[in-house]
Amino acid sequence: MTEFKHSIAASLKESISSIYPSADISEKEIFEMLEYPPDDNMGDVAFPCFKLSRTLRSAPAKIAENIFAVISAALPECAETAQIVGGYINFFISDTFLQKNVLAKLASTGADFGRTEAGKGKTVVLDYSSPNVAKPFHIGHLGTTVIGHSLKLLHEYQGYSCVGMNHLGDWGTQFGKLIVAYRKWGCREDIEKGGIDKLVEIYVKFHEEAEKDPSLEDEARAEFTKLEHHDEENLALWRWFIDISLAEYKKTYDQLGITFDSYNGESFYVDKVPEQIQVLKDKNLLKIDDGASIVDLSEYNMPPCLILKRDGSTIYHSRDIAAAVYRHRTYNFEKCIYVTSAGQSLHFAQLFKVIELMGYDFADKLYHVPYGTVSINGSKLATRTGNVILLRDLFETAIEKVRAIMEEKNPNMQNKDEAAEAVGVGAIVFYYLSSNRIRDINFVMEDALDFNGNTGPYAQYTYARTCSILAKLSCDADAALPENTAKLDKAERDLIKTFSLFPEKTQEAVIGMEPSIVTRYILDLCGAFNRFYQSCPIAACEDADKKKIRIALTRGTRDILGKALELICIKHPEKI
Ligand code: ARG
Repeated sequence: MTEFKHSIAASLKESISSIYPSADISEKEIFEMLEYPPDDNMGDVAFPCFKLSRTLRSAPAKIAENIFAVISAALPECAETAQIVGGYINFFISDTFLQKNVLAKLASTGADFGRTEAGKGKTVVLDYSSPNVAKPFHIGHLGTTVIGHSLKLLHEYQGYSCVGMNHLGDWGTQFGKLIVAYRKWGCREDIEKGGIDKLVEIYVKFHEEAEKDPSLEDEARAEFTKLEHHDEENLALWRWFIDISLAEYKKTYDQLGITFDSYNGESFYVDKVPEQIQVLKDKNLLKIDDGASIVDLSEYNMPPCLILKRDGSTIYHSRDIAAAVYRHRTYNFEKCIYVTSAGQSLHFAQLFKVIELMGYDFADKLYHVPYGTVSINGSKLATRTGNVILLRDLFETAIEKVRAIMEEKNPNMQNKDEAAEAVGVGAIVFYYLSSNRIRDINFVMEDALDFNGNTGPYAQYTYARTCSILAKLSCDADAALPENTAKLDKAERDLIKTFSLFPEKTQEAVIGMEPSIVTRYILDLCGAFNRFYQSCPIAACEDADKKKIRIALTRGTRDILGKALELICIKHPEKI
């Protein structure tokens, strides 16, 4: 729709200048005033005259009439007609423009239809997923992982080069505890076999035993100090704990089709902290409070930011400061985006403020992208009590249910396992990314898996339907658009109009850092395609030109829908 809006804005600018030479309004301002009417009968794009009425001191309806008189005599080619309703001028896009411009462009670009070069030459660093080592993914990690990766793909679609960083929580006293626990109760083979669950088991045991014997805590601290001083044996254990954990995380990343460019975790930045401590000291920002080093932020209505512990060791905040500086030096980023739960909003507000006070000019390029909490079937997740829902169990349940449905509907299907995994996992991701990220979500499995609802499976089925229609058409599937344009049916028109919104929706998703804009677009697209499919025969269409247009519509849906699903981390098998 953007191009249509641009020509309408240009014509409006010309008409307005000719009638009201004193009106001080630019084409850009006019463009931004254009609206999408809530209903098709009111046109495809509307120009409200209310704002002009204030500067021109005339009634909106009168202004609309005057402009209409001029513009209707010389409508740009892309507009079929225009009409006035109240203080609005409504413009109807022409069938020719929809075919010659939108559909023809889509036919040549395919899935790149919404791609731009807006971010060319600029780098975006995205810090997401970032689990704390030796703890399995729980449902709370779904948000950071899929929002983060989706934002990465969306930025790449706008031409940015992106660096996906998994800022692993791989440093801290918990490693001292794990080392003690492993030496006392662990068994190498058990852990090699049982993976992260076994690590959790010995970690929990450590806490149980430490209740009875607090000296274990001292032992753990001592082991961590040894680790900080590069004790070979402890370092080897620590690396091994990380490897065991990563092997587990990678299973989940594979299911989601997610990869990272860097796994530099918190430990990577420990030796880069002293340089930043010096900057803090030089700027007179560091204060000692009860032995610990802090930055006082009371002037900014925030609690103090803890920088070093009493024993001088680094913490989450100081490692994040060093990480931000390192990333800026290494990547010279345009944006550095951190995706975490809203529970960490204060952490990032403090971090960004301290970096600004330190005098780093990239402070305004740091963005925290927070998201809400997830409850399941109405019950909040009690993470403290260990009563957590693991992501892999949630995925497994969904996959099993999908497999059962497929077994019943299509017992002879090939690749059943692969498809069941794509649809089961996709259902959860789609459901999760359906609402605005900041909203708290109540997860209901039945709703997520409803094949007839506004769900992932519905979208994936729609995609598979486009593939199977095209496969049946065999060589006709590549048919080019006809030379001449045709009068479009309403369902065809609506579908092309929906296509035309894809570029702006993907741009809005980047600006608002909001993947759910794409999710909702996918539902609109599926709705428009399925209405078209029900009312317009494709293979059986007798008019040869119309048939070619309908084939192009099916191909266009396949390309945009496939890309849109990919952009929100959802796999889309060609056959389900
Ligand atoms: N490991 C942290 C957690 O699980 C998230 C890290 C986010 N990234 C960062 N640079 N602080 O809560």
